[in-house]
Amino acid sequence: MTADTTRWAWALLVCGAWLWLLFKPLRLQWQAWRTAQRPATAAGQPGPLLIGFASQSGFGAQLAEELARTLAARGCPAQARALQRIRSQDIDAAERMLFIASTTGDGDAPDNAAAFVARVMQAPRRLPRLRYGLLALGDSSYAGFCRFGRELDAWLHAAGATPAFARIEADGGDAGALRAWTQAVAQFTGQGLDVAARPAEPPPPLRWTLAQRRVLNPGSPGAPIHHLVLQPPGPAPDWQAGDLARVWLPPAPGQAEAWRDYTLASLPQDSAAELLVREVLRPDGQRGLGSGWLGHGLAVGGTLQLQIRRNSGFHGPDPAVPLVLIGNGTGLAGLAVHLGERERARMAGQRVAPAWLLFGERTHRFDALCDAALQAWLADGLLQRLDRAFSRDADAPARYVQDLLGLHGGLLRDWVARGAAIYVCGQRDGMAEGVHAALRQALGEPALEQLAADGRYRRDVY
Ligand SMILES: Cc1cc2nc3c(=O)[nH]c(=O)nc-3n(C[C@H](O)[C@H](O)[C@H](O)COP(=O)(O)O)c2cc1C
Repeated sequence: MTADTTRWAWALLVCGAWLWLLFKPLRLQWQAWRTAQRPATAAGQPGPLLIGFASQSGFGAQLAEELARTLAARGCPAQARALQRIRSQDIDAAERMLFIASTTGDGDAPDNAAAFVARVMQAPRRLPRLRYGLLALGDSSYAGFCRFGRELDAWLHAAGATPAFARIEADGGDAGALRAWTQAVAQFTGQGLDVAARPAEPPPPLRWTLAQRRVLNPGSPGAPIHHLVLQPPGPAPDWQAGDLARVWLPPAPGQAEAWRDYTLASLPQDSAAELLVREVLRPDGQRGLGSGWLGHGLAVGGTLQLQIRRNSGFHGPDPAVPLVLIGNGTGLAGLAVHLGERERARMAGQRVAPAWLLFGERTHRFDALCDAALQAWLADGLLQRLDRAFSRDADAPARYVQDLLGLHGGLLRDWVARGAAIYVCGQRDGMAEGVHAALRQALGEPALEQLAADGRYRRDVY
């Protein structure tokens, strides 16, 4: 009997081992299936919680980065990444994601989402495992209010992803909507986010005085460009090259409050906010509301409400990075201010890389804006190269700034190979679109997308 028991035990052991080996492939498949079915938990996440952002002027980027820091500090690893840097495989693998999507232009996606829109959103995708939350940033004074955030949400829905909570839309950075977003994210991640994850408020608007105003292009076949110098009521608040000034227009009876954003052409060290404002002439011959008032209605010595607004999407790179500046018209404000910032960096003993300015306007005679300052920068080497294109010179064929990129394609590739960043400022329709096409032609689409993803192709266009 004892011998039988031992024999039986051996037989069972051998059979068991044989069955175990026989069914190994099935077991592996079962384990893979179980892993795929596991609910999304912090431990089940393949990596940190991704917060994809699409941001033009930097508010959405700032919110995303702040949120990632807050979550990480509470033990929920999170990473903020521009949509441009999110690949198809990242989104396929994710079980939970957050999105912060701003809208710019006329209901358009921000530049740092362009490649995501073209590459990921155009292809059909199945994302049944993804649960997500989405914050859309916009301004209801635009016809396409939060249009890109809504499009992204609709695309995620269509791909089978599940919203963990209904899309939240923040109109003009509305504090209530941002609070609702923080609470929804807290629930979604299981983290008590008692401190609202939102960046610092911009400084309050102050009453600035119009100290000087002059027309920069008298005689031009184009509309006048006014150069305004505004002085703050006390010490100037801080800002950097690329930031904006929001100016409130005087209230008109029966009309909603109106403001306009202008790229600052000066730095706080100048102790004044300088703006370039092109007069807008409407088809009925009337002057535009904002430009008419700033160019004519407001008397020198008069005051206006002005708020400095951060526009981190157009802040400059390290001064040691070569800079290619491209633009037209009043866009010179946002280009020259970067040269001013580099001039200060050089005076402070920092190493400053060369800059190249490509600028387009109407006539050489009347529209070579700020020529004296540009020539001085050329002479002292801050500006290594200045190329201008004029479209209405009688003695030369019409040439636009984008044509210069075609003419100097080889040089442009050299600058980019040496690490240059490309900054574009000015008119969106016509100029910025033409420049984008010319850059694509000169550098190739993938290289241009990579530059944008690396923050080396930035635009402030309107
Ligand atoms: C030039 C410009 C165009 C804009 N166009 C729109 C728009 O079409 N629809 C919208 O809802 N908001 C629009 N906005 C408002 C922005 O979406 C809003 O200011 C947002 O907070 C900006 O976020 P960001 O800094 O992340 O780009 C526009 C803002 C600017 C400066």
